[in-house]
Amino acid sequence: MTRRPLVAGNWKMNGSLASLAEVAAMGGAYDVALKARVELIVCPPATLVAMAVEVATRLGIGLGGQDCHVDASGAHTGDISAEMLKDAGASYVIVGHSERRADHGETDAIVQAKAAAALRAGLTPIVCVGETRAEREAGDALAVVGAQIDGSLPADAPDTIVVAYEPVWAIGTGLTPTPADVAQMHAFARERIEQRLGGGKSVNVRILYGGSVKPANAQELMSIANVDGALVGGASLTAKDFVAIADAYR
Ligand code: G3P
Repeated sequence: MTRRPLVAGNWKMNGSLASLAEVAAMGGAYDVALKARVELIVCPPATLVAMAVEVATRLGIGLGGQDCHVDASGAHTGDISAEMLKDAGASYVIVGHSERRADHGETDAIVQAKAAAALRAGLTPIVCVGETRAEREAGDALAVVGAQIDGSLPADAPDTIVVAYEPVWAIGTGLTPTPADVAQMHAFARERIEQRLGGGKSVNVRILYGGSVKPANAQELMSIANVDGALVGGASLTAKDFVAIADAYR
């Protein structure tokens, strides 16, 4: 097993040129000891990716986009391709975030095509899955996430692909599942990823937890079996909180 923990910051539709100072500050706190234990990336809005690359790369921090189109180029006003993100210096892209599934009607089939587009461009996709509150309350969380894994992961994806389990009801709410629920879901997800990809690949696939990860709960969440890091929203906007979360691996 060679899973290197990954802590990824999803800035969503937040941030300006002034926010690049936060990236610089993250680098300041991301010292040699921490670098040896955890990979750190930030996924700012597309407007900032190219600008952030210069400061982030120098500090050992990776860059990711938050979405990509399935095509490499063409008549798609307002969209950005995986190839463009790669060209701007990104090495990751988030696909299938629940906010995109909800706001833009992205289906599992679309998410799978986006993950394939990312791989085609040489980016690592971070494929998001997660159940709603109603689905969990109905006892359907495992079934929903299992179906999302089946439908959203390209069957021929390499073991470098990243999966993020983000219960929709935990995003931006301050709520988190119990450690037992996280452990159950991540173990289940790894089995389902194995069924989908085959060949023993799932042992190397990193499965991140996302949803109200904060400095105060990072240690507990990151120590759960099969949790290989975090996808962090609000707490990734400031260097202080983001690095404090990564510090769970120190
Ligand atoms: O992608 C990360 C995200 O959806 C979690 O957001 O603000 O609850 O950490 P937040």
